[in-house]
Amino acid sequence: MSRTSETSAMTPERAAERVGALRANLQRVIRGKTESLDILFVALLSEGSVLLEDVPGVGKTTLAKALARSLDLSFQRIQFTPDLLPTDILGASIYNPVDGTFSFRKGPIFCNVLLADEINRASPRTQSALLEAMSERQATIEGRRYPLPEPFLVIATENPVEFHGTYPLPEAQLDRFQVQIKLGYPDFDTEVEILYDQQDHHPLEDLSPVLSREELLALQRAVRTVTVDRSVSEYLVRISRETRQDPRLALGVSPRGSLLLFRSAQAHALLDGRNYVLPDDVRAMATHVLSHRLVLTSQSRYAGVDKTEVIEEILHRVPVPV
Ligand SMILES: Nc1ncnc2c1ncn2[C@@H]1O[C@H](COP(=O)(O)OP(=O)(O)OP(=O)(O)O)[C@@H](O)[C@H]1O
Ligand SMILES: [Mg+2]
Repeated sequence: MSRTSETSAMTPERAAERVGALRANLQRVIRGKTESLDILFVALLSEGSVLLEDVPGVGKTTLAKALARSLDLSFQRIQFTPDLLPTDILGASIYNPVDGTFSFRKGPIFCNVLLADEINRASPRTQSALLEAMSERQATIEGRRYPLPEPFLVIATENPVEFHGTYPLPEAQLDRFQVQIKLGYPDFDTEVEILYDQQDHHPLEDLSPVLSREELLALQRAVRTVTVDRSVSEYLVRISRETRQDPRLALGVSPRGSLLLFRSAQAHALLDGRNYVLPDDVRAMATHVLSHRLVLTSQSRYAGVDKTEVIEEILHRVPVPV
């Protein structure tokens, strides 16, 4: 691991190179899925959180674990269940009978990378305890505020097919996630490769960190310095506003969604080795950042309208600045 590397000067070239090393490391475990990995890196670099939504067994937990192992950071996993309480995530005061005092025992949220596995299995009260802490970057416990460590990344997984005994995240909670990633099935050859990868042992066991905390923080700082021309910002806002007017949508993109798309476009540009955003960065990130924020009207839901297609049509319609 390159602890001696120069992190103070995180040039776009160096950023692309460091993330390339991270990508190569993850690809030792996760086969295919290069686009999903890139979206994950955008969220990581822009201090956002990730909602991994897909059917069972396509590598959601494996991907989150592989990322945590590739970063030299503390990692916690919480398996969400219906009886999980907010204090199981945030922590609680413990009474000490010897001297009659209370001391605070930090919950698993006090880590750098938190895997909230199967988030839709916990009660709405517990979900909101996590999501509020996630967006405010602090946990409020018994009236006291505790800042979360830096960096802090939540990867939540959700399984869309199990409706029985689950609590789907409400729109306001979905809006807090920067990106939604779907992994999908691997292609034929890749699936065969996966079988041999794991014949002896799981490749996850061999993974070691390739990016230090300092490098990640420098990358996150660099994202914020990526320039966005006014014409590109206006283009982005036009896309968001179009979603609010589309007759097929009951709910469009919020200004929070616009902000997260702005930051995502900056990170996307940096990953491409640039210190300025192009309209293409906005376009590349639009469906991944926006689609989970949209709510279809019941009519268009029954008609089988796809949110991704709605965004793609909007991208087609809104003039691209030159
Ligand atoms: N694209 C892939 N590349 C490498 N391994 C994969 C891929 N897809 C699935 N696997 C393997 O399939 C197994 C199951 O993956 P995992 O447990 O991460 O699934 P999951 O999506 O979390 O499922 P669940 O929703 O049931 O929790 C793991 O051994 C994982 O390595
Ligand atoms: Mg899993």
